[in-house]
Amino acid sequence: MVSKNIEKALNEQVKIEAESSQIYLAMACWAEVQGLEGIAGFMYSQADEERDHMLKLVKFINERGGHAQISALTAPNGSFASFKEMFEKLFEHEVYVSNSINELVHISLQEKDYATHNFLQWYVAEQIEEEAMARTILDKINLIGNDKGGLYLFDRDIQQLTITTASTSSTP
Ligand code: FEO
Repeated sequence: MVSKNIEKALNEQVKIEAESSQIYLAMACWAEVQGLEGIAGFMYSQADEERDHMLKLVKFINERGGHAQISALTAPNGSFASFKEMFEKLFEHEVYVSNSINELVHISLQEKDYATHNFLQWYVAEQIEEEAMARTILDKINLIGNDKGGLYLFDRDIQQLTITTASTSSTP
């Protein structure tokens, strides 16, 4: 059974994961209309993953005697000055999500809720992966700079990354 405090904190995370999905969906749309299908595909698959993160939380809350809340979401930003800016936003957002997960872990320990603490370890591991991936992508983008040929190759390569991530994903 989750306490009211834990239930509230988990529900706040449900909203964050749902908003993450919307944020990446908006990024996918922006990339798609710019004609970069590899990047768009990557963002669409990120959006799907975030929805899975949200669902996993929803099910956990309900199974533990709480009631998952599906709330209104903040509209995401839909346009970017550059791909670099878009991926910087992605990285910043993942750092924000990691901080939020860490706070949840902290609350679960304070309340001695070891079931929730155990459940959250999946998210801790996932955030390490997501931050690392975002950092790798940013490094590549910094190497490319304003080179159009480089961007073309990056768009092609990221398609491969999407396929590899999908096949090795630790999604529930
Ligand atoms: Fe579910 Fe990318 O955080």
